[in-house]
Amino acid sequence: MKGIILAGGNGSRLYPITKAISKQLLPIYDKPMIYYPLSVLMLSKIKEILIISNPEYIDFYKNLLNDGSKLGIQIKYKIQEKPKGLADAFIVGEEFIGRDNICLILGDNIFYGQGFVPRLNKAASLKEGAVIFGYYVGNPKEFGVVEFDESGNVLSLEEKPENPKSNYAIPGLYYYDNCVINKAKSLKPSARGEIEITDLNRDYLLENKLKVEVLGRGFAWLDTGTYDGLANASDFVKTIQKRTGLYIACLEEIAYNNKWISRAELIKLGKEYEKTEYGQYILRIAGENK
Ligand code: G1P
Repeated sequence: MKGIILAGGNGSRLYPITKAISKQLLPIYDKPMIYYPLSVLMLSKIKEILIISNPEYIDFYKNLLNDGSKLGIQIKYKIQEKPKGLADAFIVGEEFIGRDNICLILGDNIFYGQGFVPRLNKAASLKEGAVIFGYYVGNPKEFGVVEFDESGNVLSLEEKPENPKSNYAIPGLYYYDNCVINKAKSLKPSARGEIEITDLNRDYLLENKLKVEVLGRGFAWLDTGTYDGLANASDFVKTIQKRTGLYIACLEEIAYNNKWISRAELIKLGKEYEKTEYGQYILRIAGENK
């Protein structure tokens, strides 16, 4: 399975912060936002990754992450000329996807919780169909919403409904088989002029090939779409990291734990950021610091 991070959009809900910078590069406490979704792909053991962004921002991502080789992964880049919807990622990324299955994660989605990695690995082992998630929120109107019956079967999927049929929002993490490319191509644009991921998921549902996994209430899926959301996400990461002494989305640590880089390589990466707590953490993971 390969992975796509969609880091597009014009970030207008965060103006003026995002007037001159891509939203997914904003800091969430001590790292750029895109580290968090990238960490989820790496925890899914996905090594081939495509980052999609706007023409004006793509080079910023290249400067940040290069070809990924320092992390033992391969990162490619592709421009999305206009924000045409999330499902457009599979059209823009068609050549990259090739004949593989694909995981899409939105560049502004942050996940954290116990037991996440086995669930990611299970989703990434999908052979056919699609796997998406459901997460109970207080403001479902702002998201894709999934409705279940008493036995957990999916009854409906709706994009930002006026009258949500449930409180279960669909986070921006989706796993698909290769049929997703053709399905995306056959979608009609919605009222907001975009091809919607929710319509794509509905296609899988109609074919009985959609699995929705609920992320329970001990789990954190954070929103970064508003000023408060951004500040809260930073506070959350800071609180957990300070309390446990363990980092959320330390890419170097994940690469090392996955055995994609050696201890010597890890130490080299830690030394690059030696003056920061982040760098010191990497060196601690490598056993260089106490
Ligand atoms: C998108 C999707 C929505 C999903 C959300 C998750 O919304 O359309 O279904 O719940 O991401 O972040 P958008 O960010 O385009 O408003």
